Amino acid sequence: MSDATAKKEERRKFQAIRGTRDLLPPETELWNRVEQTAHEVFATFGFGEIRLPIFELTELFTRAVGGETDVVAKEMYSFIDRAVPDIDRASGQVFSREVLYAGGDAFARYVDRFEGFLDRLKSAYETGEIPSNDANRAGIERLEKYRATAREKIQWGEFPASPEAVADYAAAAFAFVQGMQLGYPLALRPEATASVCRAYIEHGMQSLPQPVKLYYTGPMFRRERPQKGRYRQFYQIGAEILGGTDAPAIDAEVIEMLMTFFDKVGLQGATLYINSIGHNAENCRRGYVATLKSALEKVKDQLGPDSQRRIDTNPLRVLDSKLESEQPIIATLPHIADHLCDECKTHYSAAKRQLELRGVLYQENWRLVRGLDYYMRTTFEITAPGLGSQNAVCGGGRYDGLVELLGGPPTKGIGFAIGEDRLILSLQESGKGQTQQGRDVYIAWMGERAYAAAIRAARDLRNAGFSVELPPVEQKFGKALSQADKLGAKYALILGDNEVSEALWTLKTLSTGEQQKFPEPELIDFLRNQKSQS
Ligand code: HAM
Repeated sequence: MSDATAKKEERRKFQAIRGTRDLLPPETELWNRVEQTAHEVFATFGFGEIRLPIFELTELFTRAVGGETDVVAKEMYSFIDRAVPDIDRASGQVFSREVLYAGGDAFARYVDRFEGFLDRLKSAYETGEIPSNDANRAGIERLEKYRATAREKIQWGEFPASPEAVADYAAAAFAFVQGMQLGYPLALRPEATASVCRAYIEHGMQSLPQPVKLYYTGPMFRRERPQKGRYRQFYQIGAEILGGTDAPAIDAEVIEMLMTFFDKVGLQGATLYINSIGHNAENCRRGYVATLKSALEKVKDQLGPDSQRRIDTNPLRVLDSKLESEQPIIATLPHIADHLCDECKTHYSAAKRQLELRGVLYQENWRLVRGLDYYMRTTFEITAPGLGSQNAVCGGGRYDGLVELLGGPPTKGIGFAIGEDRLILSLQESGKGQTQQGRDVYIAWMGERAYAAAIRAARDLRNAGFSVELPPVEQKFGKALSQADKLGAKYALILGDNEVSEALWTLKTLSTGEQQKFPEPELIDFLRNQKSQS
């Protein structure tokens, strides 16, 4: 391999993983502005920030989001954690050949060690330090039987004949241990509603004044096919209201907050779609799903393979299909609105009225069913222009019952998550994503005395809130000014021998080339005035 090829290979090795990306300045300034707006707007609606772990037990998501959903079944990054440290270490030591070969009364000592290990495993199983599942139950049973035969052998003096034979014997037990799952299955969070509900239960938040209003920002992980607006690590800004009543005013207020945020951040052309998917009862959604299923069976041949599969796994998701050829068929399917129970119908009408009271414009979309299992009643989504096919910038809905499903008390819940990557894209496409680039002041200095003044000037200007570039080594003024231009600085502060001896500093406005002289204290006042006028 030539040097050049080797270098190329080396470079290729270290790239951001497919579907992840680096967010760089100046774009990160826009991200910060968006997040800052969220902090401000959500605070005015009484929300407090929650910071959650990036990974959780896989089972949390399986239970909350649903094992059959794409998010959990196909897209989750999950892995088995290591065992608790002492078990992790012991499983290596007990069965290690070096230890077994140590000679002497090898077998009896091996069995002692093995028993210690097995007792530790059993207590870990009981206390939940290792997962309580079939594999571990079966593993412990097998190891118990193994222990009994080992003890019998010792009792009857039937020791394995050689160190190798002891090792083979130990290998059999090690195979049982390897069949167990000593670490918990964990997953990078694909969404955060499940975590918020877990935290609500874990911290006993039901005893706080209800409802509890929380919001979060941060990365989520889904192994989807990357494309514009779809990443494997993406960012959400989400909010949840837990506890208290399920009054439709809550549904409307959470949406009002969302629209206020979008407005403040400058998103244009956002469209809010709403629907009600009822609740999980025979006279409501369950009945509708059965009706839908039989309607789908009748047109099965005209559907694509994905939708055909979903007839059995999750018929509601067929309504989500974007496949062109399926659209006319889907248009003929029964609507959920005609199958809602009276209570869900009333709740939905009231939620719409509450939106109208707040002046929030919406469109109803009977096909809006959402891809996560926990939803009931109100669901909503917001689309924005400039995003191509991935045009949903926000999704949310009501999920009464989720906290209970995760082991907490019966609790009402509603919330949403904004796709921050998509929001940023849409802002950029509409020209609302401009960031202020460059420094306020570049200090062009020459000479040792000037440098001392430059250091002081940099400190004072920074303290006054200006962004300042102070070159670390002396440069000719011409070079310094061209560097200032390249960095997009607004002003160059010129400090040379003359300026220092006259105590008059030269400020050059780079866009006009105009130069003015100021005594040191007046400089900051001048810049402040200029800033407040711009
Ligand atoms: P979701 O609809 O799965 O809902 O995601 C919410 C938003 O996250 C989407 O509308 C989209 O903007 C963004 N998003 C999802 N996947 C990706 C991706 N691969 N790349 C870029 N952006 C993406 C939830 O996550 C629920 N937890 C929302 C919620 C909160 N419901 C109630 N409370």
